[in-house]
Amino acid sequence: MIRVQLTSSGQKQGELLVVPVFSKEEPETEGLKAAVARRVRSFEGPKGWNADKDQVLSRELGGTAGAMARIYGLGKRSDFDADGLVVWLRRVVKESGQAGYQSVRIVLPKHDVTLDMAVAMSAYSAICLADYRFDRFRSTPGKTGVKSVRLVLSAEALAVFRKVARWSRELAAGVAAARDLGNTPPNEATPEWMAERCRELGRDYGMKVRVLTPSGLKRKKMGGILAVGEGSANPPRLVRMDWGTRGPIIALVGKGVTFDTGGISIKPAATMDEMKYDKCGACAVFGIARAAAALKLPFRFRAYLPLAENMPDGKAYRPGDIVRCYNGKTVEIMNTDAEGRMILADALSWAASEKPDVMLEYSTLTGATVVALGTGAAALYTPEDELAGDLLSAADRAGERLWRMPLWPEFGRAMKGNHGDLKNLGTRWGGANQAAAFLSEFVGDQQDWAHLDIAGGAYVGAGQAGTKGATGYGVPLTLLWLLSRAGKL
Ligand code: BES
Ligand code: MN
Ligand code: ZN
Repeated sequence: MIRVQLTSSGQKQGELLVVPVFSKEEPETEGLKAAVARRVRSFEGPKGWNADKDQVLSRELGGTAGAMARIYGLGKRSDFDADGLVVWLRRVVKESGQAGYQSVRIVLPKHDVTLDMAVAMSAYSAICLADYRFDRFRSTPGKTGVKSVRLVLSAEALAVFRKVARWSRELAAGVAAARDLGNTPPNEATPEWMAERCRELGRDYGMKVRVLTPSGLKRKKMGGILAVGEGSANPPRLVRMDWGTRGPIIALVGKGVTFDTGGISIKPAATMDEMKYDKCGACAVFGIARAAAALKLPFRFRAYLPLAENMPDGKAYRPGDIVRCYNGKTVEIMNTDAEGRMILADALSWAASEKPDVMLEYSTLTGATVVALGTGAAALYTPEDELAGDLLSAADRAGERLWRMPLWPEFGRAMKGNHGDLKNLGTRWGGANQAAAFLSEFVGDQQDWAHLDIAGGAYVGAGQAGTKGATGYGVPLTLLWLLSRAGKL
């Protein structure tokens, strides 16, 4: 992770100096030494230089040998926003690394958006994560880029950034942890391996960790997760972690299918490798847990991670099977590829039976949600308008796309079973909504609950723009939601 330091002035040798400029304005040189500021302002661009967005000017600063400055055009001030800031910072750090710099001093654009605490948090953590790579499986490690960034801020911005510095670093570490787990290939990241990571996390942060193995799951009559895990040589686990001694009880549930072949209702071959990301709900909960525990947020947390691998096999569960879940409801299996809802049925009903104040669940549950909202976004389902509003606003402030979807009764009706209470597959239309309606059968009388279908946001897959891999979706919005619930933000 890149080290970030906040400063209101100064200049060091061997650093790259990055100065932003809005179209038709002077470069922002407040805080720089007078001589340097004068020199930067005297730089003239080539023909056509208007400080448009993405226009860059590189010049020698003179004085100290080899010192360089880069002036980045940001386009029109009135078009600049939080997203523009984050994208720009990421780009600056990447390009500085490619140019061979280990340390870079970036003057923060003077703009109202930078004074918002949530924006500052996104900006700070984006810098921390700008060098994120998953290269544990590469024989030759990638080149190292920028190691440290000094942000030059106005007094006003400095106060804001100082306030969010620690939150931002833990957020970045939580996102990185979620990505690392998500990216880990399914031959290593088995249910037991994931459980071991949770035990480790528990040791590091003083959480109580309990891991149910198949025998424990049988004793608890958790037929959903047992059925899904039956076809795999890597038996299922259900992890329960808790920590925190004061405040409301917050339950976090995350789908952890370490690999989803579809089982007997097997998936097509194309992009099946991406089903290693089917554990990203659990990974998000892991990242949230890490950050929330590190920051000692004033809540009593409980995290539930159902972990299973969905494989076809002689012992695998099959269409037509009827299984009984933890809350006693029976489900007729119509499609073994609708496995996420089966493991969540047990985890959610266990979590709900322990009466939390609020329960959030994250899952790469349906392709239908990606059809509806596109990639990069997640669907929010909750019967509670206030909770919906809080989560949508947290997502908006965290720069994550979240969109509310309906829990209408017809979607529940579509999930009634022929010979069981429920079936795990509905009709052709509104698949994400039907899946959410199915889950709502397992929350008991819990009112404050939300389901986030993160299938579209959890990873960047083939054919999508950007660096491929797990994103850590959900960690930023949830940490923001927690901080504002704690009255800190
Ligand atoms: N893990 C998938 C959902 C998914 C699809 C996640 C694409 C990420 C990208 C889930 O288990 C699944 O297979 N869902 C089925 C449900 C269907 C059988 C009702 C789907 O979406 O096709
Ligand atoms: Mn599936
Ligand atoms: Zn799945």
